[in-house]
Amino acid sequence: MSNVTIMDHPLIQHKIGIMRRKTTSTKEFRDLVSEVAMLICYEATRKLPLADIEIETPLVKTVAKEIAGKKLCIVPILRAGLHMADGILNLIPNAKVGHVGLYRNEETLEPVEYFCKLPSDASEREIFVVDPMLATGGSAVAAIDILKKRGISKIHFLCLIAAPEGVERLSAAHPDVEIYIGNLDERLNDKGYILPGLGDAGDRIYGTK
Ligand code: URA
Repeated sequence: MSNVTIMDHPLIQHKIGIMRRKTTSTKEFRDLVSEVAMLICYEATRKLPLADIEIETPLVKTVAKEIAGKKLCIVPILRAGLHMADGILNLIPNAKVGHVGLYRNEETLEPVEYFCKLPSDASEREIFVVDPMLATGGSAVAAIDILKKRGISKIHFLCLIAAPEGVERLSAAHPDVEIYIGNLDERLNDKGYILPGLGDAGDRIYGTK
């Protein structure tokens, strides 16, 4: 799938390896979410356009580069995506942040929107949707549906760990979305958890188990 990038960087593999361990503390896990999100963001922003800008160094006038084109916006899917967004803001401090909240209807098992707050100029921005775990793909597809309904067209999706089932579903529903994955795992279990995975990312970030 040409819209999917699976990260093979040793730092990402190493850090995700620590996150998987059940003995990893909440604080360490949280720090690692932020670090791995930054590393994936580094790759996801590789194709941002640059423009020349005239500047003065302490010695001479010169031409430097600055990021041009659309302004950026990070959209975490609540709640686990929040800490990925915090990490990415270390790299892109001027990005705006929107939020999408979804819950699962217990009968249909389909995601239902309960919250969506975006910057007023979101449709003019390049959007980075973040959620640590791409499991069934239901939430990611629904979140991106919501954004597209609000006129947003340039969308990337970043996750730490994905199941093949989720990647296929997201890619089929939104082939125009660039997907960046820290690690592609084996499969989902019958409860929708990724195997081998790392458990419930939200619970591990916030210590709510
Ligand atoms: N969400 C999680 O936090 N973990 C999984 O394994 C699947 C979905």
